[in-house]
Amino acid sequence: MSIIIDHTAHTFTLHTAHTTYQMKVDELGVLLHTYYGPRTDGGDLSQLIYHFDRGFSGNPYGKGKTEKGYSLDVLPQEYSCFGAGDYRITALRVRQADGSRACDLRFADAAVSRGKYALPGLPAVHTDAPDAETLTITLRDPATGLEVVLLYGVLPELDVITRAAVITNGGTAPVVLEKAASLSLDWQYDTFDWVTFHGRHTMERNFQRMPLQHGVQSIGSVRGTSSHHYNPFAILCDPAATETSGLCYGVSFVYSGEFLMEAEKDQIGQTRLVCGIHPDDFAWPLEPGESFTTPETVLTCSGEGFGLLSRHLHTLTREHICRGPWVHKRRPVLLNNWEGTYFGFAGDKLVAMAKQAADLGVELFVLDDGWFGKRDDDNSGLGDWFPNEKKLGCSLGELARRIRQTGLAFGLWFEPEAVSEDSDLYRAHPDWAVQIPGRRPNLSRNQLVLDLSRTEVQDYLIERLCALTQEAGLTYIKWDMNRSICDKYSAALDAAHQGQFSHKFLLGLYRVLETLHQRFPDLLIEGCSGGGGRFDLGMLYYTPQIWCSDNSDAVARLDIQYGTSFGYPCSAMGAHVSAVPNHQTGRVTPLETRACVAMAGTFGYELDPDKLTETDKSEIRAQIARFHQYYDLLQYGDYYRLRAPVTGCSVWEVAAPDGSEALVTAVYKTVEANAGLVRVQIQGLTPDARYTVTLLQHEGTDQPHPEFLRPVTLTGRELALAGMVVPPARRDYQAWQLHITRC
Ligand code: GLA
Repeated sequence: MSIIIDHTAHTFTLHTAHTTYQMKVDELGVLLHTYYGPRTDGGDLSQLIYHFDRGFSGNPYGKGKTEKGYSLDVLPQEYSCFGAGDYRITALRVRQADGSRACDLRFADAAVSRGKYALPGLPAVHTDAPDAETLTITLRDPATGLEVVLLYGVLPELDVITRAAVITNGGTAPVVLEKAASLSLDWQYDTFDWVTFHGRHTMERNFQRMPLQHGVQSIGSVRGTSSHHYNPFAILCDPAATETSGLCYGVSFVYSGEFLMEAEKDQIGQTRLVCGIHPDDFAWPLEPGESFTTPETVLTCSGEGFGLLSRHLHTLTREHICRGPWVHKRRPVLLNNWEGTYFGFAGDKLVAMAKQAADLGVELFVLDDGWFGKRDDDNSGLGDWFPNEKKLGCSLGELARRIRQTGLAFGLWFEPEAVSEDSDLYRAHPDWAVQIPGRRPNLSRNQLVLDLSRTEVQDYLIERLCALTQEAGLTYIKWDMNRSICDKYSAALDAAHQGQFSHKFLLGLYRVLETLHQRFPDLLIEGCSGGGGRFDLGMLYYTPQIWCSDNSDAVARLDIQYGTSFGYPCSAMGAHVSAVPNHQTGRVTPLETRACVAMAGTFGYELDPDKLTETDKSEIRAQIARFHQYYDLLQYGDYYRLRAPVTGCSVWEVAAPDGSEALVTAVYKTVEANAGLVRVQIQGLTPDARYTVTLLQHEGTDQPHPEFLRPVTLTGRELALAGMVVPPARRDYQAWQLHITRC
């Protein structure tokens, strides 16, 4: 049993393999949060809660006259509410029918069930694990009858606890939810660092760590998507935490839209974390009897630093967020034509590219933007999902047949949520575009956004996507979304319901993706939003890989993929080898370096094979063979960050879960004369076993100083404690791969 209800102590204790999470109903019926951290014995930890009069922290009526120390303003609570005495950031804010905003939840009921709950219409963690359980706690506001059901899913092996809430208007008058977060979480005593992942288009998910200060620190998005700018994933950790030690808490929002993650250090140094849909664009009316379900938040806790936290999240994402056959099936090595041709292609050119790619060992050809409607640049055509047969020189079905004849599978780019003003779709349905009557909408990349909150818009997309998938026998779809949303308004909603727009848009998007997933379970969908602008667990539920960034420069990718790896596995990161000079940075890196970096993701190429030299081609053949050889290790191995890119030499390792082998990749950002040596301590090996470390020498790899060609044989313990040395760089952007095998 992972979930224990103690009816005498009124505690609810959730145990995972290494962590414990506990709540307690107090004498007023308030659901307190007593503990989340390394696994305990399950005793009542509310003894750590003391009531002091803090001054200006008021007392609920039931206590006020006798106990001035009891205040919701300082008590650790499980689901905090605005307006009834808690002045900190809160999870729930309700506008009542009389205009007041107070809500005060008290315990009503609790139950445990086997298996993990699902959230209809929303992405959520799924599992068949026999030890997974759900705790349901019902809270009620006695004054209005508003009911909140807190859902807890427990995945013991991965030290994962999921949370969501279902809010029901159990009263007789309508209410409006102004904020409905998925969780709030309180710590009474700990001091934290706050780790977040900020960015911009072509430079996503940069690691940032700072001490959590008094006041509120937050990340979020009001852009309609989760955004390039802040990833919906954060870590609170012990200020001394490292990759291998210290307590860390990870919080990941399973949602692809607007979010707010706030952390507050309060007047007495307590910490509260609140995570959910961003309230700025949210107002959800509930008639009596109606309910609202929040998206899910995933919590993980590691007592062994960031590394273990990430590995738990990697397994969770691979096995319990992603779905369908591609979770375990080998993903194809692809060639995408975007950086190779941009909009300038014809059918014959595509077939020629596919032929050359087949000769290199590529398995899937992806035709990117420009194959439909009137679309020879990014100013028109979006929404007209009908093949441009003139440009292709034949029907889409015929083109797909010709590509398949080369031996490659075929995939297509779509941007379903977008519409160009210059498109037949917009001319026919101007009201399908998101815009506010009486205002000229913002254009971005000269395009508008379709109102996916409307069923007829969803149905149009479902019809087009299904018909084209069928017609072209698609193996793969790249699902793009190339702007942020503003001017939010739906022509289909009345004034009182406009606050539903952003979330309804997401529900519409998820409906289209789910329908596609159900109708074509074998279809591999790669998410994308100008690269990694919607890289979140919500999308990964439908698209098991996401184009990590529009920046394909291998050196920039070191930082992007490093930051991404804290919350997401290699198997989720779309990564390609592109041409040099790189189109985003102008940097010239060795082909070998580009391949080593792309192998830390779902490997592919994004260039015109016609421009490759014969030497490049034979190097690429060898790279693809190497990727296949180490596929299981690279995609499913345990991932260790050995050195951050900021050190000048980025080193990461993937180790077989049984400790039988590991692959270490090191990439230098610069070369230095007579440099000091880089030593790394290898993790994930069996301490008593002996291993040989060999520098991989393939076609195209450089020769290190001869000293470093001598194989090293050491035990797993020696490699972990004493470590091994990475050969020095012989040129800028030098990459090495070292294979470690059990003797
Ligand atoms: C976005 C994507 C690119 C490419 C272009 C096509 O920017 O991230 O990979 O598909 O759109 O317009």
